[in-house]
Amino acid sequence: MPPWWRDAVVYQVYPRSFQDSDGDGVGDLAGVNSRLDHLVALGVDALWLSPVYPSPMADGGYDVNDYTDIHPAFGTLDTFDALVTAAHERDLRLLMDVVPCHTSIEHPWFRERPEYYVWSGRDGPRNNWRAAFGGPAWSRENHSGRWYLHSFYPEQPDLDWRNPAVRQEIGDVLRFWLARGVDGFRLDAVDRLLKDPGFRDDPSATGPPELPGHPEHVALHHEHSRDAPDIGLALGALREAADDAFLVGEVYLESGRLRPYLEHVDVAFSFELFHAPWEAAAVRRAISAAQGLDVAWVLSNHDFDRLPNRVGEGNERAAALLAMTLPGPVFVYQGDEIGMANGRDGDPPDDRAGRDPFRSPMCWDAREPHGGFSGVEPWLPQACPAAGGVAQQVQNPDSLLPLYRDLIAARKDLNGPLELIDCDEGVLAFRRGRRHVVALNLTAQERPAPPAGEIVRHTHGLTGPAPAHLERGSGFMASVAGTQAP
Ligand code: GLC
Repeated sequence: MPPWWRDAVVYQVYPRSFQDSDGDGVGDLAGVNSRLDHLVALGVDALWLSPVYPSPMADGGYDVNDYTDIHPAFGTLDTFDALVTAAHERDLRLLMDVVPCHTSIEHPWFRERPEYYVWSGRDGPRNNWRAAFGGPAWSRENHSGRWYLHSFYPEQPDLDWRNPAVRQEIGDVLRFWLARGVDGFRLDAVDRLLKDPGFRDDPSATGPPELPGHPEHVALHHEHSRDAPDIGLALGALREAADDAFLVGEVYLESGRLRPYLEHVDVAFSFELFHAPWEAAAVRRAISAAQGLDVAWVLSNHDFDRLPNRVGEGNERAAALLAMTLPGPVFVYQGDEIGMANGRDGDPPDDRAGRDPFRSPMCWDAREPHGGFSGVEPWLPQACPAAGGVAQQVQNPDSLLPLYRDLIAARKDLNGPLELIDCDEGVLAFRRGRRHVVALNLTAQERPAPPAGEIVRHTHGLTGPAPAHLERGSGFMASVAGTQAP
C-alpha cells in the first residue's frame, strides 16, 4: 500500500485569514473547524495549518514564542484537539507547520538558553551574510551587546542546529504534536538549518538567482549561509522524532539540489515549477528537473503573488488542470479554488516584506459583509473574486470551484509515471501511465492539440472526442488516442 500522501491533495489553511468564529476580525481554529465541510466537498486529503503557536507576529506566526501551545487569538490546545478530531472524523489528515530554523526573539530560550543560538563572537557582524528580506543577517542584542544571526527578520534569531540540545528540543516539539494526533509536518526553511561552521563570506552572485528573492539577498550566492553539506545532521534528528509521519520540506533551492534533503523528508516542494513563468518551455523544464525526485507540487502559497496574478487571468483553469494531473502530492493554497487574486495591504501593512496581498481573508460568500469571513472588519482587506465566493461558485457550474472539485475527483483515476510528449511549442502535454494524456495551451492563441482519445475532463466543460485544437487558456485530460475514456 502506498502511503496516504503519495498522490494526496493537501489544502493550505492560513488560519488568520480562513474563518473568524469569535468576531475579532482574525481567523481562528474554531473557524477552521466550522469550514471543514468545504474541504470535504472539495475532495482534498489533508490540511496544512500555517503556524498557530503563541507569537508576537513579527512574521505572521513564523516567529514562535512557544512551540507547544496555541496563540490565544487562534484558540487553545482544547480547540486544537477538537479540530484534529473533527478532521479525522472526516478522513482529513492534519499537518502542522514547524519552524525549526529560528524562534521569536521573545522566546524564553533567547534569554535563558543563549547557547541555543548562533552568535558572531565579534563586536559586529561575523561575515557578509544577508537576511532573506534584505539587510545584514546579524543584529546586536541590546542587553548583552552580542551579535546574533537571523536568516530572516531580526525578530527571528537562528537556532544553532549544531547544538545537540537544540535537536533534542525541536524533536520533542514534533513528538508533542504527534501525541496529539497530527499526521505530519511542513518543515519551514529547512535549507537554513545548518551553515558553514567556519562562517565564510558568501561570494557575490555571478548570474541570475536560481529562485526569486529580495534583491539585496540574491546579490550574494548563498554558498555558505545555507544548504550546508552536512544538512543530514539536522534532518536526521527531525526524521527520527517524526518516525514515519509525513514530512514535507520547504527547501528553497532548485530541484537539482534537493537530493540530500529527500534522504530524510518524504517530499520537498518544487519551487522551480512554482516560479516558472507561464510558458510551455519553462513549465516543461521545471517538470523535467523534478523527474525522479520526490517533490510536492505547489503553485501558490502565502509568500508570493496569488495564482491569477502569476499565471495571468484566464489561465487559472489550465493551472488547476496542470496541478491536479501531476504525479505526487499537490498543495492548494486556500482561495486558489475560487480564483482569489492579490488583495490589498493592510493599513498600516502587517508584513514588512509586502506579503499582505497574498493573505487576504477567504471569500466564503461575496453577498455577506466581509465575504462571510467575519462579522467585523477583518485584519486585512477583503478581496472577493468577480465570480463570487464559495457560496456563489457552488451554484455556478461554469465557475472555477466546480472545476477544482471535478479535477480532484478525476485525479484519483490517474496513475502511472509522467512522460512528457513532444508537441506544439506553446502546448504542454504529457502521458500519465498508459491510460491518460494531459494537454494544455499556455499561449494567448489557439494551438494544435496532441492526438488524444476521449475527454475525461476539459477546463471549459467540453466532452466527447478530444479536440484537435486548444483555445487559449484551455486544456484537457483525455484517454490515450485510439482508446476509450477510462
Ligand atoms: C518560510 C515561510 C515564510 C516565513 C519564512 C521565515 O519561507 O513560508 O512565510 O516568512 O519561512 O520563517
